[in-house]
Amino acid sequence: MLAENKLEVLKDLVRQYSREEIIWTNGYLAGLLAQNETRESKETIVPVSVKPTIIYGTETGNSKKLATQLQTVFKKNKIQSKVIDAFQYPVEKLEKEDFLIVIMSTQGEGDPPQNAVKFFDNISNSSANLSKTRFAVLGLGDSSYPLFCKAGEVIDEQLARLGAQRALPFQKADVDFTPVAEKWFTEILGSLQQATIVKT
Ligand SMILES: Cc1cc2nc3c(=O)[nH]c(=O)nc-3n(C[C@H](O)[C@H](O)[C@H](O)COP(=O)(O)O)c2cc1C
Repeated sequence: MLAENKLEVLKDLVRQYSREEIIWTNGYLAGLLAQNETRESKETIVPVSVKPTIIYGTETGNSKKLATQLQTVFKKNKIQSKVIDAFQYPVEKLEKEDFLIVIMSTQGEGDPPQNAVKFFDNISNSSANLSKTRFAVLGLGDSSYPLFCKAGEVIDEQLARLGAQRALPFQKADVDFTPVAEKWFTEILGSLQQATIVKT
């Protein structure tokens, strides 16, 4: 419970927030909580039963590298995940995913990378029901291009159109993508662990 004066400050702050900002703040706070709780001996993090699938779309390897780094973060936190090239991902499997993570760069003029063209088209033409799927998309790009991170943005919109629930708002990452990606990893971890922290 917050003291009255702190509650008023919080209410004032939240009043100025958009819906996306509230979702982001929720993930951010959950991430902070998860970090603190690993340090406290009276609380236990039970294994996360969700097995996220990480799909990457890449031309020059950045998105693949981040997908692998995220898998390492998951491993350290005892979360099993799969990393898969968008080219090899059968879109029919989407309905079976409970937590889908997409890391996708943008090429050409707002286009998906070559390995993700089929995935991109299939998802755009899909009528799957993804109401049981949570997801998060990280778009890699370069803000000097007019259509900054467009391919990632389209994937994010398509997943939402199919009824999937955003675990985090769409995140764009510019050429210096490492700090943005690392922060995003922490937020994903927070949103996965949120429901699984038990007090002993
Ligand atoms: C030929 C070319 C076209 C690009 N077009 C875009 C673009 O339209 N929008 C954008 O945000 N970034 C664009 N980028 C930047 C890439 O998305 C960025 O370098 C990204 O980190 C590459 O990630 P990847 O190695 O996973 O493909 C382009 C890069 C190249 C080389």
